[in-house]
Amino acid sequence: NQGALWGGRFASGPAAAMAALSKSTHFDWALAPYDVQASKAHARVLSKAGLLADADLAIMIEGLDGLAADVASGAFQPAESDEDVHGALERGLIERVGPEVGGRLRAGRSRNDQVATLFRMWLREAARRIAVGLLDVVDAIVGQAAAHPDAVMPGKTHLQAAQPVLLAHHLLAHAHPLLRDVERLRDFDARAAVSPYGSGALAGSSLGLDPDAIAVDLGFDSAADNSIDATSSRDFAAEAAFILAMIGVDLSRMAEEIIIWTTPEFGYATLADEWSTGSSIMPQKKNPDVSELTRGKSGRLIGNLTGLLATLKAQPLAYNRDLQEDKEPVFDSVLQLELLLPAIVGLVSTLEFHEDRMAELAPAGFTLATDIAEWLVRQGVPFRVAHEAAGACVRAAEARGVGLDELTDAEFAAIDPALTGEVRAVLTVAGSIASRNARGGTAGERVVEQRDRVAAASAAL
Ligand code: ARG
Repeated sequence: NQGALWGGRFASGPAAAMAALSKSTHFDWALAPYDVQASKAHARVLSKAGLLADADLAIMIEGLDGLAADVASGAFQPAESDEDVHGALERGLIERVGPEVGGRLRAGRSRNDQVATLFRMWLREAARRIAVGLLDVVDAIVGQAAAHPDAVMPGKTHLQAAQPVLLAHHLLAHAHPLLRDVERLRDFDARAAVSPYGSGALAGSSLGLDPDAIAVDLGFDSAADNSIDATSSRDFAAEAAFILAMIGVDLSRMAEEIIIWTTPEFGYATLADEWSTGSSIMPQKKNPDVSELTRGKSGRLIGNLTGLLATLKAQPLAYNRDLQEDKEPVFDSVLQLELLLPAIVGLVSTLEFHEDRMAELAPAGFTLATDIAEWLVRQGVPFRVAHEAAGACVRAAEARGVGLDELTDAEFAAIDPALTGEVRAVLTVAGSIASRNARGGTAGERVVEQRDRVAAASAAL
């Protein structure tokens, strides 16, 4: 069997069902470009160690370059007989340069150190792509915040009317977690920048090869200090899977709100036609599928993380074949986010907000009651008393079916002598919002500063 990397001690090849179970080319082919790149680096250290003649190195590099081009164009594909990407590529190299030179490449390395290295390379690049996509979402959020600097909305806790806030403040609350996710991806990238190459199967290489030279060649900061750890640990993959799941969860919170906001009952916003879908039976429908798929896929990303952790749990050192199960869930999380992120950018940037509707609802549910209590505190009333008095105002207004600002001077005075008609000065949505002007608050000038900081952070990351 040409594609097999082992066989000398076996009298027969694997049973068909064994080979089918073992096979991984249908997913690890994604590592092929990295595998060829790492093979070139390996060939160079073999030559430095005196294990590959100059002429053979030249033939090998040329063969690997040809193989890389054919992998990129699709001209070279895994064959039915190939167990994994590593075996397939050795077959491809030998087809190009013959067994005499091609058969020398594998000295001093194992698929165990190879696959751990290639997976790190793949993931570090994927993390950078995801970060770029996330920053596009942040920029779309900042764009909407900038387009609606003065719009107010009902702020909610427990999904119940709480206090009025600026729409821009609320939107930016979704940008901050995404910026932290980008920082997490950066942290991951730096921590994953350690190369397992040269660890061999588990014990390291005896051939005088230089793991640090390969590490630098492949864009890592250094080679690993422990060959057993390097070939058997996958916490880097679990860390990436966590960040990807966290991104899904963060996006799902915004998605859920967009679903609610675009119902007729809320009516805060309308979806653009390009970023919504219709119904095959109900002609009026305009469905928020981008948001729903975001919500749905966030569950899938969590599943990929928990599945991977379960695979890793209690594995004895060093490499076990269980570890072949590490790649598909993480590949899937990346793929799903690469589908989602551009759609979320489209969804967010085209959302049409209805400022009048949000302004009308902002004071509903007595959301200015806290402002009465805080006005009383400024008059020297203890907050405990002020809170009771403001609550009594809500009860009186509710009983009469009026707003808090429509209570009479006599009604205010009956509730608390400190409560005069002057309190009406704070009983407007705009006044309430403007008064929350400490750092982090919803006052207009604070939100503009915040928006500038978010935009600057996004540009700097
Ligand atoms: N395909 C394996 C993986 O993805 C790498 C091969 C290691 N196989 C082995 N028998 N040591 O983890």
